Amino acid sequence: MVTETKKRELIELAIRAKERAYAPYSKFKVGSAILGKNGRVFLGCNVENSSYGLTVCAERVALYNAVSNGCKNFEAIAVVGDGDCYAFPCGACRQVLYEFEEDMLVLVGKPDGTFLEQRLKDLIPFGFRL
Ligand code: THU
Repeated sequence: MVTETKKRELIELAIRAKERAYAPYSKFKVGSAILGKNGRVFLGCNVENSSYGLTVCAERVALYNAVSNGCKNFEAIAVVGDGDCYAFPCGACRQVLYEFEEDMLVLVGKPDGTFLEQRLKDLIPFGFRL
């Protein structure tokens, strides 16, 4: 159960993480904060590359940051992009998150702190699993 206070905190952390984005090509900065079931929060930002296809989204960076720090069980993830729009996770990120927790709460925010929420399983029905 993620409290309203915790949701707002995750959005604020994602907004801060967005400032670290490396996005010289798209100029579209994205930040993310993922909450582990152990209460720990890990941040990520998008990291672009001259070879555009090697770009990694903020959500995956946050998740990989968590996993590489020993956290594999997740409660929620927040993502905030630039501008006045909701940057929903792309298909690749949905599948990567799905690997770990299909019931994860996904908070999609704007830089002004307003956000929408969805369950991951509603964003990626019938996600792939081996
Ligand atoms: N991006 C993310 O970081 N997360 C998303 O959910 C959508 C897209 C990044 C990738 C790229 O650096 C930039 O946004 C423009 O596509």
